[in-house]
Amino acid sequence: MSTLAQQEFCITLSDLASFMEIPSSEVKKKAEVVLQKKIRSPWLLPEEVRSLLLSEGYVYPRKVISVQMLKGGVAKTTSVLNMGLRAAMYGARVLFVDLDQQANLSFALGVEDESLPVWVDIAEKRKSIEECVRFVEPHVDLIPSSLNNSVLDRVLLNSNRNWAQIVKTPLEKIKHRYDLILIDTAPALSAVNTAVTVASDEVILPVNPDKFAFLGLHKNLSELEDIKRDFELNFSKKILFTKFDGRENTSHELLQRCIEDFEDSLMKGYIRTSSEVKNTVRSGKSLFAGKSPVKADYDFVTREMLGFV
Ligand SMILES: Nc1ncnc2c1ncn2[C@@H]1O[C@H](COP(=O)(O)OP(=O)(O)OP(=O)(O)O)[C@@H](O)[C@H]1O
Ligand SMILES: [Mg+2]
Repeated sequence: MSTLAQQEFCITLSDLASFMEIPSSEVKKKAEVVLQKKIRSPWLLPEEVRSLLLSEGYVYPRKVISVQMLKGGVAKTTSVLNMGLRAAMYGARVLFVDLDQQANLSFALGVEDESLPVWVDIAEKRKSIEECVRFVEPHVDLIPSSLNNSVLDRVLLNSNRNWAQIVKTPLEKIKHRYDLILIDTAPALSAVNTAVTVASDEVILPVNPDKFAFLGLHKNLSELEDIKRDFELNFSKKILFTKFDGRENTSHELLQRCIEDFEDSLMKGYIRTSSEVKNTVRSGKSLFAGKSPVKADYDFVTREMLGFV
């Protein structure tokens, strides 16, 4: 279903070597012992990486993470996509959930069929969640979105049932199959996004270097606090600085303000700006197969998300 070649979904031995801080030849040797076979390719499949890292004592988290920001264009979808794909390359079992009716995440993963069932079909009990899951690649599944989800807010608010549980309750049924469930959202403070927050163990808020994104971040954080209190939730909040441009003062100033204002919740890694990011999402090519400097940025924040740092 995906337009990506299989090896674009795999981590290279040399990337694993720099992660494990040992030479590639050592990684290969360790993998051959764990997998009990000769490794002939310069990469490992997700399930192979999983066996290797488990044998090295790494523990995969079990989390529902949503990426939210009421301001548009701050790299929510780009971050969900790249962090999810990279996590799968590190052996995590990933479910993407696209809850933005723009369906950019679904398109980027090569799922463009408007007739596929989406979350509104789950909410209206036409489909089970299992029927909405699409296989993308080994370790990567997707519940796609489409314009049909644009009525989801109204459906939730008109429903007599407990609308705020409409994301959490169905996910409970399939949660055990995944390490990470990553939810991409529309730029809004909507009922759907409240239901997403109720389902989240962690909310990542991308912010980029412009004044409006920064104002949006403050507004979004206070909204999340209200939801936390009203629904007695316990999720954590992480801020991810994106589109950092080292040549621009605004980037330095706003990153500094984020460090001062949100020291505890700011992710250690940040994402630099790069024209290649646009191209990878559009062409369905993996960022990790190329040489973009942003590859290292998303690699680092993925490790942070996995607790592998
Ligand atoms: N690091 C980056 N460098 C340069 N461009 C980027 C970077 N990250 C994202 N972009 C570009 O910025 C635009 C917005 O990104 P993206 O669609 O991920 O944002 P979004 O927050 O999901 O937007 P929306 O709110 O509309 O859903 C896209 O064209 C994307 O290719
Ligand atoms: Mg988006």
